Amino acid sequence: MKTQGHSALVTGAGSGLGEATAHELARLGAKVAVLDINLANAEKVAADINAAHGAGRAVACQCDITDTTSLQAALAKASAAHGPARMLMNIAGIGSAKRIVGKDGNAAPLEDFVRVVNVNLIGTYNASRLFAAACAKLEPLEDGERGVMLFTASVAAYDGQVGQQAYSASKSALVGMTLPMARDLAQHGIRVCTIAPGLFATPLMKTLPEPVQQSLAASIPFPARLGKPEEFAQLAAHIVTNTHLNGEVIRLDGALRMAPR
Ligand SMILES: NC(=O)c1ccc[n+]([C@@H]2O[C@H](COP(=O)([O-])OP(=O)(O)OC[C@H]3O[C@@H](n4cnc5c(N)ncnc54)[C@H](O)[C@@H]3O)[C@@H](O)[C@H]2O)c1
Repeated sequence: MKTQGHSALVTGAGSGLGEATAHELARLGAKVAVLDINLANAEKVAADINAAHGAGRAVACQCDITDTTSLQAALAKASAAHGPARMLMNIAGIGSAKRIVGKDGNAAPLEDFVRVVNVNLIGTYNASRLFAAACAKLEPLEDGERGVMLFTASVAAYDGQVGQQAYSASKSALVGMTLPMARDLAQHGIRVCTIAPGLFATPLMKTLPEPVQQSLAASIPFPARLGKPEEFAQLAAHIVTNTHLNGEVIRLDGALRMAPR
């Protein structure tokens, strides 16, 4: 699908990989809704995009993807500003590290597992179902295509580390949901693909001490550095524009395979 002139929703666009993807889609001519639970960050990213690509190109929409009312309000605001969306980039997500049996011998708190699965899996599904229902009503474009959707998994979907049960479970569920959702939405001309990133230099990663960042980077076979958010954004944009990509999960990790810890 061509990006030019079409409307995109990017969740988690207030920071990191989502922010870079919002910038890249705007650079390629899309109108971008910057969806994030953090309003201040969303407004800053939207202002940056408008400054770079012209007023009205981006709109900030605060929402919690796990809350349907908040999500519907954000989608309505985005649609009023830019018209119906043909792209949904699901990038919002959270991490956690918790051993199932803690050092104190106690069981891990269930709330932590539920919170991570709720944001990463159920929040992604929530945004996807609302987007898909609206997108399915749009006029088809070339090849009968109506829209495209991205999930953001992680290499932890395959090689989760010690303490990553919740994160890995939520991300491998996105991997598992990719093909059935692509098959489901084929009749509506909506494609679904997933990126499974390795280690990327986002604000989250930059909070780690420099030596830890360096040792993580050194564990990547080639290139032995953290991924750049722009590299994720390039692949996200390629998925949008390459109509034959569908139902696929792509690792973007410099051949990284995570060690147990
Ligand atoms: N950075 C990495 O190395 C890496 C690796 C693999 C996967 N990922 C995945 O990529 C995605 C983006 O990661 P990042 O590093 O850019 O993180 P980040 O923390 O910089 O950005 C995530 C954004 O999501 C938003 N968000 C969180 N919960 C939300 C909710 N309930 N509703 C709406 N917005 C919400 C946050 O406010 C934040 O702005 C995540 O899904 C993460 O799991 C990141």
